[in-house]
This record gives sequence, C-alpha cells and structure tokens, in this order.
Amino acid sequence: MVKIGYIVGSFAQDSINRKLARVIVEQAPERAELVEIDITALPLYDRHMDADFPQVLREFKDQVAAVDGLLVVSPEHNQSFPAPVKNAIDVLSRPPKQGQLAGLKLGIAGASPGRYGTINGQSQIRQFLPPLGVKLMGVPLLAVHATGDTFHDDGTVDEQTTRRAKTYIEAFTEFVESH
Ligand SMILES: Cc1cc2nc3c(=O)[nH]c(=O)nc-3n(C[C@H](O)[C@H](O)[C@H](O)COP(=O)(O)O)c2cc1C
Repeated sequence: MVKIGYIVGSFAQDSINRKLARVIVEQAPERAELVEIDITALPLYDRHMDADFPQVLREFKDQVAAVDGLLVVSPEHNQSFPAPVKNAIDVLSRPPKQGQLAGLKLGIAGASPGRYGTINGQSQIRQFLPPLGVKLMGVPLLAVHATGDTFHDDGTVDEQTTRRAKTYIEAFTEFVESH
C-alpha cells in the first residue's frame, strides 16, 4: 500500500481545487491510500519560531513524514502559487537541520479558469523545489482549464477531467513506488 498525502492550496469552501482533489482521491488505484493534510490552521512561519517550534507546525511535519509522497492540489494566484502553499513548504524546511524537503516525493496538480489552468504557478514550484532535493514528478501534467462545465455543484467533475485525474494519480502512485 502506498500512502499519499495531499494538501489543497485553496481555503475557499466551494474551491474547484478541492473538487479536483476529490476526483483524484476517487480515481486513485486501490493500492494507494490518500489522506488530506490540512494546512488551513498553519500560522505564517517566522524564523523566530525555530527556537520553540509551534506544536501545530510539528504536527503538520509529522503528518508529511508519515506519508510516502505528497500531492499539492492548488489554484494559481496572480500567475503564481498561493501564499499558504509557500508557507507550508517553508515550514517543511525548518527548523535548521530538521528540514524534510530533501527526498520528498512531490506531485503538483491544479485547476483555474485561466487558459493555462495553473501552469504558471506549477512552473514556479518546478523551478525552486528540485534544487532543494525534492523529487518532483515531471509528467503527466494535471493543469485543468476550468470552464463552467468542468466542476459541478454536486461535486462531480466532467468526463475528460475525471480521465485525466485517473491517469495522473496512477502515474503519481507509480512514481512514489519507484523513487
Ligand atoms: C488573488 C487571486 C488571484 C488570481 N490569479 C489568477 C491567475 O493568475 N490565474 C488564474 O487562472 N486564475 C487566477 N485567479 C482565479 C482563480 O483561479 C479562481 O478564483 C479559482 O476558482 C481559484 O481556485 P479555488 O476555487 O480552488 O479557490 C485568481 C484569484 C484570486 C482570488
């Protein structure tokens, strides 16, 4: 069994990225167990926290340490990834000598109404994390250009996105198993 944690980069109640995360969970192969790692309660990291690392940040790091791979499902804010995702990444890198980015197996997916569906935000993550030792899955990409027909109010998702989510999570499961 492969344990995959996922974080949702949007705190919005009707988040399309939460809907995307849900379909990814539903389409995961049986050998993969997906668990949400909630980042909504993480305070904004500050280096003064290193001396007495807050319990809530330790618990978050423990949850990430307990999974075999981590999946970020996030919107794009102003052509980049949103602040809570960066904050979570910064927390994982601290305190000094207790960072957990090196060797972390990571996947990124996202949806936005923009034509390129979070590809710019995803590209930035692809740029700065591998030099820090993160093992990032290259392909397939899951950057969903959301139209009015993509995500439905009842939580279901259109057929094409469902198929892409299946392909993506199958590939990420294999990536986590083989790296
Ligand atoms: C501050 C802000 C900046 C945004 N910037 C972008 C952007 O650069 N590209 C894009 O495609 N959508 C952008 N959007 C639109 C979001 O993609 C859209 O609100 C989407 O529904 C957010 O995902 P969520 O529903 O999971 O929160 C932005 C939204 C906000 C609130």
